[in-house]
Amino acid sequence: MTGFGRGKLILCGEHAVVYGFPALALAVDRGTTVTLESRPGPTEAIDSPIDDPRLPEALRLVLPEGLGVRITTDLPIGRGMGSSGALAVALVRAAAARLGESLDADTLWQRALLVERVFHGNPSGLDHAVSAHGGLVRYRRPTGGLPPKLEPLPTPVWNLVVLDSGLAGDTKAMVAGVAARRPGIDAHLTAIGDLVVTAESLLHDARALGDLLLENHRLLQAIGVSTPALDDLVGIAVGAGAYGAKLAGAGGGGVVLALVDDPAPVLVAARARGIHAFSCRIA
Ligand code: PMV
Repeated sequence: MTGFGRGKLILCGEHAVVYGFPALALAVDRGTTVTLESRPGPTEAIDSPIDDPRLPEALRLVLPEGLGVRITTDLPIGRGMGSSGALAVALVRAAAARLGESLDADTLWQRALLVERVFHGNPSGLDHAVSAHGGLVRYRRPTGGLPPKLEPLPTPVWNLVVLDSGLAGDTKAMVAGVAARRPGIDAHLTAIGDLVVTAESLLHDARALGDLLLENHRLLQAIGVSTPALDDLVGIAVGAGAYGAKLAGAGGGGVVLALVDDPAPVLVAARARGIHAFSCRIA
């Protein structure tokens, strides 16, 4: 009995999405697999790269007693690539497979949200929504308790390279930091929201989209979530010919995504500096 959940990258709009603005995000061809084995005793992770104290609670939420849980992933953990959202989706899929139940994307999304809340308190819901749905999407969670909306978008032809800062970002702390800097930074959050609308109309123009990603990165610097290491990764990607690059996710660590035609020069430039980098496809 197994379940798989894809990871994600936020193309543009993180942080502003918490305040009701849209974001563009994509599921990637990497993710997390959960395998269940029957065995006596309490349900526990018997093999897991995710060493999170909240994991036992997440397992209890979706699984009955008497299971051993193996987790494998090719996502960097805690780097803004949706590793907990992917785990939530994989767990819900594995639990459903055990019961011979087939889930539509909306039910999967709702159940995975309950698991994701164990890890993130009050997430915008973007991670597991994108993981459950797949592809490139526009995601918006209106303020005032209205349900989130996810709109699938056509898959563009450009490629992505991910450059890993090697440091985990703390999403909860970064979101709290942004909240504490309001209302002084509200104009920047609105500018990010406006930029996302423009980006959606330019998805097939890699050059123009790349410029917008760079502008998005500058706005993320302005709201205080970038770091010198992330700024350096953006510089390395652009110096090696990327159309544009930005931090992806909550910041404070995590990864930079670079929009490219050919991944090779950016991969070579990153690896020459000892940076873990890999190309990604929309999945
Ligand atoms: O770092 P991640 O992948 O968890 O991304 C967080 C994205 C935020 O917009 C900063 C928060 C959220 O809940 O959407």
